[in-house]
Amino acid sequence: MTLNGKVVSLLGTRIDPQRDVVAVDGVPITRPAKRTIMLHKPAGYITTRSDPHARNTVMTLIPDIPGLHPIGRLDKDTTGLLLLTNDGDLTYALTHPKHHVEKTYRAEVAGLPGAGTLARLRQGLLLDDGPTAPAQVRLIGRTGADGACVELVIHEGRKRQVRRMLAAVGHPVRTLTRLAVGPLTLGDLPEGVWRDLTPDELHALYQATGIVQP
Ligand code: URA
Repeated sequence: MTLNGKVVSLLGTRIDPQRDVVAVDGVPITRPAKRTIMLHKPAGYITTRSDPHARNTVMTLIPDIPGLHPIGRLDKDTTGLLLLTNDGDLTYALTHPKHHVEKTYRAEVAGLPGAGTLARLRQGLLLDDGPTAPAQVRLIGRTGADGACVELVIHEGRKRQVRRMLAAVGHPVRTLTRLAVGPLTLGDLPEGVWRDLTPDELHALYQATGIVQP
């Protein structure tokens, strides 16, 4: 084994993985390139790397990139922006509540939430796993004869949180889409389609988490 072209015989030699070149039998060891993509998740797909029941998983919609895994979860019937990466530090930073990365959801709900209901959602509600943090909530308008469209921005990632919040105030969710994660927006990416993040998007995402971009 060589380190920067010099043979290493000392056990426990430390290296700087960002700068040092390690080679075995003359072949440099390269770390897999970091890759982060966004997928417009369609309804009907589950967010898991593998499913023992062999149902549709989001992994069937994306290329086979070593180590790529979803960052957090969207419910089977939720559509919208799902990030996948092979950077474990990014996954940790985006899913750990201390980093407070905002996620924006648009929900179509039954009924028309009134001002008092919107205020309860904004202040925080008591769910069966504890109170929710204050949220930004905006009524977009009516949909159809008996429904409404509501936009929520939350930074927690509790299981089925948006559905449970809206059910708790008497407005069950009919459809749910995630429009944004931190600085990233879904834009006009068609359902079922994925793309790499642009360098600017990657930079903004690492900035939002406060961790150093590799
Ligand atoms: N909140 C939900 O209820 N479902 C999701 O998929 C994401 C957030």
